[in-house]
Amino acid sequence: MVETTISVIKADIGSLAGHMIVPDFILEFARKEMKKGVETGVINDFHVTNAGDDLELIMTHHKGEGNAEVHELAWNTFVKGAELGRKKKIYAAGQDILADTFSGNVKGMGPGSAEMTFEERKSEPIAVFMADKTEPGAFNYPIYKIYADPFNTAGLVIDPNLHDGFRFVIQDVRVDDKPFVELKTPEESYDLLALIGSTSKYTIKKVYRHDGMVTAAISTDKLCYIAGKYVGKDDPVAIIRAHSGLPAMGEILEAFTLPHLVAGWMRGSHIGPLIPVGVKDSRCTRFDGPPRVIGLGFQVSNGTLLGPVDMFEDVAFDISRKRAMEAADYLRRHGPFMPHRLHENDMEYTTLPAVLEKLKDRFSAEEIVPK
Ligand code: F6R
Ligand code: MG
Ligand code: MG
Repeated sequence: MVETTISVIKADIGSLAGHMIVPDFILEFARKEMKKGVETGVINDFHVTNAGDDLELIMTHHKGEGNAEVHELAWNTFVKGAELGRKKKIYAAGQDILADTFSGNVKGMGPGSAEMTFEERKSEPIAVFMADKTEPGAFNYPIYKIYADPFNTAGLVIDPNLHDGFRFVIQDVRVDDKPFVELKTPEESYDLLALIGSTSKYTIKKVYRHDGMVTAAISTDKLCYIAGKYVGKDDPVAIIRAHSGLPAMGEILEAFTLPHLVAGWMRGSHIGPLIPVGVKDSRCTRFDGPPRVIGLGFQVSNGTLLGPVDMFEDVAFDISRKRAMEAADYLRRHGPFMPHRLHENDMEYTTLPAVLEKLKDRFSAEEIVPK
């Protein structure tokens, strides 16, 4: 049986009216490039959308993860799209393109990616979540809820297939040497939480069922560590398989209802609620946010994509959106104060250090008495 790979590769290559939305001409251009990719046999099928200012390429193929042809198709789409954007003077055209030449894989070159390969089940429902104005650690909370919290996922209690738990692969995004660790739930839930509660350091990379079946993949690319400076947040994506011995789609969506607080928002320097929205509201406005997540449902069918279903475009999430805006309003009153503004340890790659540098010679050992 031939395996199918889902590759979601994304980049901010420029946007309208500041960092708000991907312009239609870029979306149309990307669809044309993807269509050529299908015609030349590089990919099988695709869906192009935007999470705020991020261009999202959702692709299916049979070439496995990290495939050079698939990655090059995405890379060239971003490079050529950015060129079009520069001509039209859209904002921050080419922002996430951090390398001059393609070197076989988009990893480490600016774009973010999540990929997953599996043998298609009799029926294969999946969800693709795409967030704007936040970072990969934003998915730690909902992914934990989906696979390890019985108050979220009824199947962990009711369905014998879920009883043996899940295996989480965690990545320390701040180190290159030995970044990965595997932890098993429910046995190691407390150890797992001890790591993934630190959302700016430890991110969930993949989740497998106890028997080794892959079930979730999340992008963990951190732009600042590639560029060595702030170049926008690392707006993450996640691919999740649903049903038939895995959490149901409704259990997956339930994890986004809080809405929980994440790092990002204005200048990548603030915490705010992650609002689940439909694609039509995938547009960051107030204080460049609040951070948003869209969720598209597909059926993977013999290497093609049926759908999408715009899953957060539903009245069931109105209460979460209202709660999010109440939290956003409350947090905004704190202005430049922590914890609304991030701790300075998490501001290393923002523009704050340049401001602090200017003041450093004015500190004195003695208390200063102004004359
Ligand atoms: C956050 C983001 C925006 C910008 C902000 C300043 O990820 O992209 O909040 O940081 O709008 O943008 P510049 O520096 O381009 O004026
Ligand atoms: Mg942008
Ligand atoms: Mg973005």
